[in-house]
Amino acid sequence: MAPAFNRRRPLPSGVPEKIRDTVFASAHTKAPRVLDLGAGSGRVAGPFLNAGDDYTAADLSMGMLGAFQRQHESARLIQADATVLPFPDAAFDIVLLVQVLSGLHGWRRALPEIVRTIAPAGIIAVGRVVSPDDGVDAVLKAKLADILASLETFPYRDKPRDDAMGWLGLHLPANSVHTIARWTTAERTPRAFSERHGSGARFSKIASETGKMAMARLEAWANERYGGLDAGEPEEHRFELSIYRKN
Ligand SMILES: C[S@@+](CC[C@H](N)C(=O)[O-])C[C@H]1O[C@@H](n2cnc3c(N)ncnc32)[C@H](O)[C@@H]1O
Repeated sequence: MAPAFNRRRPLPSGVPEKIRDTVFASAHTKAPRVLDLGAGSGRVAGPFLNAGDDYTAADLSMGMLGAFQRQHESARLIQADATVLPFPDAAFDIVLLVQVLSGLHGWRRALPEIVRTIAPAGIIAVGRVVSPDDGVDAVLKAKLADILASLETFPYRDKPRDDAMGWLGLHLPANSVHTIARWTTAERTPRAFSERHGSGARFSKIASETGKMAMARLEAWANERYGGLDAGEPEEHRFELSIYRKN
């Protein structure tokens, strides 16, 4: 999925800059050391690199890091698993987790490990796009879950992001939520959902025959409901940053 990641999951222009502005405004030092963990192909890296920040990107996937490096040659990249980070205690002032928690492998071990690498008064910034409950993505995901349940497959029963954010709220109670951007888009079509979701971390774990059958049924259903796979209604999306501060 690495080469197509940014194309399938574009962020509106200006969002990476707002992420940097918001986390820097919350930092306890003027020149914070930033770890972009689960950095993927570098979707939010630009403003940090352009400003010459002390920025390190880490990801488990070499494919993602390869795609990152092709766009930002001089960036400091490290292949690392969030559950065993190769950094000393208190090595960073800001850890970014952008669109990471819902697919973070081993979050129960990863979160204490992340907290260990943050300096006192440092922050974890969890970023995510929030789409409407009745939007194309939410409706299709619920329908896909029903179809997969009828095939005795339950990839969405676990809710790692909710559980992980619950853990963070409990252990780092000084936190705040910032909506840093809102935009309206009609690009969330059934076809875009099936391309994006079909290449996502959780769907990829389903046996390939089951996955193909479920997607074919979903597309047939979406065709009827929306009158075509390319039909999209304008929907409001927002980008939310939840900031957790270490004591
Ligand atoms: C949905 S992508 C988000 C990438 C990037 N933060 C962005 O917003 O464009 C999630 C990333 O988390 C990485 N990831 C998942 N589990 C990880 C782990 N245990 N340690 C490090 N990276 C992990 C994946 O390889 C993937 O690149």
